[in-house]
Amino acid sequence: NPAHPAVALPPVIGHRGYSARAPENTLSAVIETRRAGVRWVELDAQLLGDATPVIWHDRDVGRCSNGRRRLIDLTREDAARLDAGRWFGNAFAGEPMATLDEMLALLDELDMGLNLELKVNRGHDPAVLAHRAVPEAMRRLPPERLIVSSFSARALAAARNIAPPRRLALGTLYKRLPVDWRRRCEAIDAFSVHLDWRYATRAQLVAIRRAGYAAVCYTVNEPAAFARYRAWGAASVISDDPAAFLPAG
Ligand code: G3P
Ligand code: MG
Repeated sequence: NPAHPAVALPPVIGHRGYSARAPENTLSAVIETRRAGVRWVELDAQLLGDATPVIWHDRDVGRCSNGRRRLIDLTREDAARLDAGRWFGNAFAGEPMATLDEMLALLDELDMGLNLELKVNRGHDPAVLAHRAVPEAMRRLPPERLIVSSFSARALAAARNIAPPRRLALGTLYKRLPVDWRRRCEAIDAFSVHLDWRYATRAQLVAIRRAGYAAVCYTVNEPAAFARYRAWGAASVISDDPAAFLPAG
């Protein structure tokens, strides 16, 4: 699609980094992805209470750190004191929560591509998240190595207001493809449609491609499913174990 930057989507993208081998959404998870020969990662972005953008999936830090508070109750200093690695394994003890800034510096250094998911959890403002995170990502990564996606139409609309299609690829993100997906994609001039592979059908993937969008399936961890969705025309699949899907050799 000439209206968009020439995003070279790879066949496989690491979900939250290499989340099968390292604590999700951390610098280590990204380093592990690159080490395995995979050049793109999907990461979740949210804001702390002091509006610092960080890479984190949940609304609180209980599952993936030694803390228990909600993100909106933390400052950057509080977050820096958390151990976001030990829950995954002792080898990762002391791994901090990554700020978006630190993560972008690493991705830039490793020459990697990023699917940045604007994760709008309850109690968070989608437009504020987009305004804090998207310009920063665009400053650090070239347009062909960045896709911003979200379940939130409001976050996507705010991101589109920040940058025209030619400068920023946007992806609509769905668990199940809604009936009005075309209208939603047109509203933000989307580049890609990201779908939960468990509910995606061949007909849907074909329709998405025919409409001029790249289809991306998440989170695919079974090799048989990977082959099937590629055959159906998915441009890319997002996996917890991306190296398992690299071509042999
Ligand atoms: O971006 C694809 C996928 O990450 C969306 O779901 O919950 O893993 O962020 P979740
Ligand atoms: Mg995600």
